[in-house]
Amino acid sequence: MTQSRWAIASLAAALTWSGLGAGPMLAQARRLDDGLARTPPMGWNTWNKFACNVSERLIKETADAMVSSGMRDAGYRYIVIDDCWQVYRDTAGTIVADPQRFPSGMKALADYIHSKGLLFGIYTDAGSATCQGRPGTQNHEEQDARTYASWGVDYVKEDWCNARGLTASAQYKKFHDALVATGRPIVLSICEWGSNRPWDWAPGTGHLWRTTDDIGDNWASMLYNYDLSAMHQVVAGPGGWNDPDMLEVGNGGMTDDEYRAHFALWAIAAAPLIAGNDLRTMSAGTREILTNAEVIAVNQDSLGVQGWLAEQPTPDLQVWTKPLKDGARAVALLNRTAAEADMAVDWKAIGLPPGRATVRDLWAHADRGAVAGGYTARVPSHTVLMLKVTPARGH
Ligand code: GLA
Repeated sequence: MTQSRWAIASLAAALTWSGLGAGPMLAQARRLDDGLARTPPMGWNTWNKFACNVSERLIKETADAMVSSGMRDAGYRYIVIDDCWQVYRDTAGTIVADPQRFPSGMKALADYIHSKGLLFGIYTDAGSATCQGRPGTQNHEEQDARTYASWGVDYVKEDWCNARGLTASAQYKKFHDALVATGRPIVLSICEWGSNRPWDWAPGTGHLWRTTDDIGDNWASMLYNYDLSAMHQVVAGPGGWNDPDMLEVGNGGMTDDEYRAHFALWAIAAAPLIAGNDLRTMSAGTREILTNAEVIAVNQDSLGVQGWLAEQPTPDLQVWTKPLKDGARAVALLNRTAAEADMAVDWKAIGLPPGRATVRDLWAHADRGAVAGGYTARVPSHTVLMLKVTPARGH
């Protein structure tokens, strides 16, 4: 990833949202237009915290916690069971959920989730077996899609293990078509880890696509995934989103300052916000991060533009920006260094006129006044200052 690659991406995006024109790079973004995922999907998934330890009880308790914690009202909707829910196929080839772990069956679980005003997601794999060795969907695409639709599934994540010999673009298209044929609106989450250039074909096939390998619950991994996803900024938009993987906020491997950076960067990147912690026992600090309405509003902004790197005075001090529907800019001053630093954002660098603009700190929930030209602040190590900058009227 080079500076100039970013510069080109930024320029292309600037042209898109300002309506000033369209370069050849913009033609590639032909995204799905089926009414789903018009803003980045929000929800929760079992994998990051629970791995194979999934059960009906965990899912129901998480659905309850989603409501009681305020997560649902903050916008989180999908409760997704990742790998290990499935055990075998019956004699008719129908996929069977683990009867020990899901004694009431998936239909009853979906009904429970729906009764809470939430949506239900499930996991499969395009190959012969999932990453944990459970039955994959290869050669059962239509049958599985019908089964999921009959259970009331609203979201399917499709993985890419044990898929040797298959062509990713064709295989995911096949499953997308099978989902469409059920007549039920179902979000398709493509998970081939960015290994087959999904940014070239996934926008017309799925509603989100992983751009990276699995995230780890640490600062370096989080930034690594973020940087990779940033390279494909131009293809994201309503109906199709780059996915740098699910959130680790609250899982214990980073400080709250680092988790604030993680969450703010996913917001700036218009990345899916799929929480991956234990909602039943999360701390007040974790809940505050995950339910910050002002940061979520940046992620869910209807303009649907993935943010980009605007300024980088040194490689580890970066200014990221995302244009918003109301003409304002979200800004993340990201301090990747081990020491606190004075950081500045220049209005010109984020596409605003040099005159006065009001500044609001989205973590402190505080107005910082109207300033001309730009804004300077001290940013602690390993975190972001997250701002909304609104040009004053008359500019
Ligand atoms: C892959 C995916 C993860 C998770 C696991 C489950 O590693 O990338 O997100 O779904 O498989 O086995």
